[in-house]
Amino acid sequence: MSEPMSNENKGAIAQFLAAPPDSVGKTLFVAISVCLVASMIVSTAAVSLRPTQEANKLRDKQVNILQVAGLYDPASDVTEAFAAFEPQVLDLESGEFTDAFDAATFDDLAAADDPELSRALEDDPASIGRQARFRTVYLLRDDAGELDKVILPLHGYGLWSTLYGFIAIEENGNDIFGLQFYSHAETPGLGAEVDNPRWKQQWNGKRLHDDAGTLQITVSKSAPAAGADFHVDGLAGATLTTRGVDNLVKFWMGEEGYALFLDKLQAGEF
Ligand SMILES: Cc1cc2nc3c(=O)[nH]c(=O)nc-3n(C[C@H](O)[C@H](O)[C@H](O)COP(=O)(O)O)c2cc1C
Repeated sequence: MSEPMSNENKGAIAQFLAAPPDSVGKTLFVAISVCLVASMIVSTAAVSLRPTQEANKLRDKQVNILQVAGLYDPASDVTEAFAAFEPQVLDLESGEFTDAFDAATFDDLAAADDPELSRALEDDPASIGRQARFRTVYLLRDDAGELDKVILPLHGYGLWSTLYGFIAIEENGNDIFGLQFYSHAETPGLGAEVDNPRWKQQWNGKRLHDDAGTLQITVSKSAPAAGADFHVDGLAGATLTTRGVDNLVKFWMGEEGYALFLDKLQAGEF
């Protein structure tokens, strides 16, 4: 049985109830109650919406991979269309796929922060701080099972933000099919013109290496000596974002990135 309320307690409650509505006690009581209720609503919403947010994030990534591979159709089911891709975890140090992780669930961003799975970069042209040893890549095969394209994630700093995106490379390991970013905070109308379909279209048909095997792809105002096959126009009024994209593409296609894997692709190993 609960204890009967003491006279002292009864007095305090009666005093509180009898106080005018704008008393300090009642004002504080209402303010704290509103804060408590609001924080409970916000945290319940945050927890209950997390699965939906995760599902949307995954869908967004799948849409981006479909888009960069030229396979996105808004009328089709994204999950079904995405099933065409074969995800693989790539070991950048060997250029080989590894079974050490499940490619369907491997968390690239978490791995890039894990000291066991990444290393600090001394020479860091893409301004990413650490380089992951493993990345999830996506293979696309034709009906005969022959490799058609590979979709490789890449990221690097622009002017205001890290740009995250994908590059689609043809099965020969040298011809670019497309490039697009799915996350950045560059300025609309300036650096954010990386999302302009006309700019993105330029990547189609460009080549990474010249016939001597030298990495020549360049994003700049003027064409490099290697020629138009290796050149994507810089963004007007956004030289710094342009430089960031140039740096990150060269970094990821180079020795510290996918170079070993691209060599193997060129040799037809997959
Ligand atoms: C508010 C503001 C936002 C800007 N945003 C960008 C940007 O997103 N990317 C970029 O490269 N330059 C941006 N700039 C311009 C740069 O400061 C710099 O002037 C420009 O990159 C030089 O490019 P240009 O040589 O092609 O004119 C911005 C400038 C201002 C004032």
